Amino acid sequence: MLRARIVATGSYLPEKIVTNQDLERIVDTSDEWITERTGIKERRIVGGCQAASDLAYEAAHAALKKTHIKAKDLDLIIVATVTGDMPFPSTACLLQARLGAKHAAAFDLAAACSGFIYGLHTANAMIKSGMHQRILVVGTEVLSKFTDWEDRTTCIIFGDGAGAVLLEATKEKRGILSTHIASDGTLADLIMVPGGGSRMGCSRETIMKRLHFVKMKGNETFKVAVRTLEELASQTLAENKLDPSQLSLLIPHQANLRIIQATAKRLGLPMEKVFLNIEKYGNTSSASVPIALDEAVESGRVKDGDYLLLEAFGGGLTWASALIRW
Ligand code: UT7
Repeated sequence: MLRARIVATGSYLPEKIVTNQDLERIVDTSDEWITERTGIKERRIVGGCQAASDLAYEAAHAALKKTHIKAKDLDLIIVATVTGDMPFPSTACLLQARLGAKHAAAFDLAAACSGFIYGLHTANAMIKSGMHQRILVVGTEVLSKFTDWEDRTTCIIFGDGAGAVLLEATKEKRGILSTHIASDGTLADLIMVPGGGSRMGCSRETIMKRLHFVKMKGNETFKVAVRTLEELASQTLAENKLDPSQLSLLIPHQANLRIIQATAKRLGLPMEKVFLNIEKYGNTSSASVPIALDEAVESGRVKDGDYLLLEAFGGGLTWASALIRW
């Protein structure tokens, strides 16, 4: 039986740091409020002309450097993003060109913060079916360019970054054991960028109304996220006949510390078994899970044979999980 195994991870964070104190000077907020309500202390923001494919390239390059796989060996590139360089061509095609991955097909996938795990789900199915052998999956976001820096309810949350994994077919009894993806489009209005698409194309009016920025009903989103992620995590473990105590590490989407704590509590997992970097990077949407995975691997928190649970929740609404045996 073929499985997809993660053979390398990589990530990239822009250098510029914006602290909560910096935000206190821009909007009516405080370090205390942001820390208490979200767990975020600072976030990374791109320099002027950096775009999603630039961040993706750095993360992919970092992953490729760690393995025998060369860019020309890739046969598929999936880029999860909702902040791509431009409507088209896809950010995945721009990345393919930068990497020189000339044998790879490339496409973008939009599932907001769940995008990376949606990408893993897709790559896993393609590897298991034998259609593809070596796949690069990237989550990359430049949310700072879609953030309304006058809106204190959103600008305190988001950050920029990218994370990447290289997947290869294996016959070993490890790799991706299962993935779950789900959506509820009836709640699309909870998080969206209303302008700039075919519904409300760019015009003087859409710009004046600030419709090209993220709009979020934060508290409503928070409640759905807590409920959904608790259920998703329990279901994923149950379907794999695993007890939460067998889990080595939960690697959650870093949206809000209180959401993460609620999921851990429901599973009865001590916080030592939960990987956190929200304090440093905020919510980087589809990049958050692969950045966290890369940092967990690089810091030695992931060992051969470990069970890892990845989970995410985001705009769409979408949610997703992946259970991995390392
Ligand atoms: O990435 C995937 C999807 N996104 C999420 O999962 C995000 C989920 N939501 C959240 O993380 C939280 O809802 C937020 C952090 C966005 C907001 O926290 P909250 O505890 O839900 O606050 P709230 O929206 O209920 O607002 C409480 C109060 C309000 O004031 P009043 O009406 O009680 O006077 C807000 O106006 O806090 C006020 N507020 C702020 N105060 C200081 C909202 N933003 C700020 C701020 N600084 N930045």
